[in-house]
Amino acid sequence: MQKFVITGGNRLGGEIELQGCKNSALPIMAAAVLVQGKCILESCPNLTDVYSAARIINSLGCKCSVAGKIAEIDASAVSGSAIPEKLMGEMRSSIMFVGAILGRTGQCTFSIPGGCELGPRPIDMHLAAFSKLGAEISENGGEITCRLPKGRGHGSKISLSFPSVGATENIILCSVLAEGETVVNNAAREPEICDMCRFLRACGAKIKGDGESRIVIEGVEKLHGCEYCIMPDRIAGATYLAMTAAAGGAMILKNACIAEMEPFISVLEQTGCYICTADNRIYLRRGGRLKAIRDRIRTMPHPGFPTDAQAVLMAALAAADGTSVFEENIFDCRYRHTDALIKMGADIQVMGKAAVIRGVKGLHGADVEATDLRGGAAMAVAALGAEGTTSIGCINHIDRGYEKFEDNITSLGGRISRV
Ligand code: EPZ
Repeated sequence: MQKFVITGGNRLGGEIELQGCKNSALPIMAAAVLVQGKCILESCPNLTDVYSAARIINSLGCKCSVAGKIAEIDASAVSGSAIPEKLMGEMRSSIMFVGAILGRTGQCTFSIPGGCELGPRPIDMHLAAFSKLGAEISENGGEITCRLPKGRGHGSKISLSFPSVGATENIILCSVLAEGETVVNNAAREPEICDMCRFLRACGAKIKGDGESRIVIEGVEKLHGCEYCIMPDRIAGATYLAMTAAAGGAMILKNACIAEMEPFISVLEQTGCYICTADNRIYLRRGGRLKAIRDRIRTMPHPGFPTDAQAVLMAALAAADGTSVFEENIFDCRYRHTDALIKMGADIQVMGKAAVIRGVKGLHGADVEATDLRGGAAMAVAALGAEGTTSIGCINHIDRGYEKFEDNITSLGGRISRV
């Protein structure tokens, strides 16, 4: 098992180009299964989750290859409608293929998805929505089958009890080829959903209202291929900014999605970092010590503060002046990284949804293990600001979401090696 060895204590400086977004690449790859033709995706990040998605597509008899930053998907012919259990277990986003396969073939067999352990991650909203779109659902020994008796779904009005990102995406995927109009109320508004909708529209889908809480999808008979460029990854961007905030120094993030990163940037600015944005670039400079954030940082659906950036900001605030408080409102178990930060000298107390971070003078290196994707990235943020050397194990979690992680840190002047 590989590790990252990071020696902290020196300021960062330099510029890096932001990768394509994992959380829109994956649903867009699923969406390409709906298309009777070839899709070319530019700015596709090279990540283990993307390769898992490619394997799912190939297992359906379609063709998917990823080379450099380009993914080519040809779903002209689909010969299967079952997702192998092993591939379902590799990542949570495998659930997105269910809506797409169901929409394209009228049937899908699958098992419960894997992914980061952030507490219970049920799929009840997904299944209830498929049912409203006309699917009959059965379960046999852990294997679930959704079947559209007429081979095609029918439009429906669906109100989500919570704006789930995945459920919103799955409803769209399942309804773009359905008969009639589907309305999603209390839809999630994450930018990645808009990215997937832009891709689908480029293929001929009729979708309105994405980015708002009411989305309307008018089913079409067929989608055609297209070339599409995936948006930049706002959470990877937040991670690299948090690194420079933790270690001190100055950096430029190129190819940044400034508007989409605003909920994170506006909070990070309160730590005393100087941040300036222009022309898809974000400049961040940290001179003196970081300041704690006075108001409670509440993770919320977009445009609230993103749960995916909670861990990396916490790692930076662990050595700030004063006390910061987080409230995690999206996942039940998203503080698993705190034990590692405490091992590195942080003073953190977790009480249910809240985590109280009393800033310490400085962190020190330690041997830690990544608990999940963003938790692992948070350990790297802490390590770059800490005195001494940190070894981070289980970096397969980090490789699921960060492209060229060590190369980017090295080009910012950080000392990191993969061993
Ligand atoms: C997406 O997960 C992201 N993943 C997550 O990013 C992100 O943390 C999350 O949205 C919230 O922003 C991808 O886009 C691939 P949800 P998703 O459905 O779709 C509950 C990362 O680090 N829920 O909005 O799984 C659920 O348990 C990852 O990149 C149900 O109860 O998130 C959670 O508490 C991790 N029943 C809440 O809703 C359901 O059927 C939000 O989950 C579905 C969800």
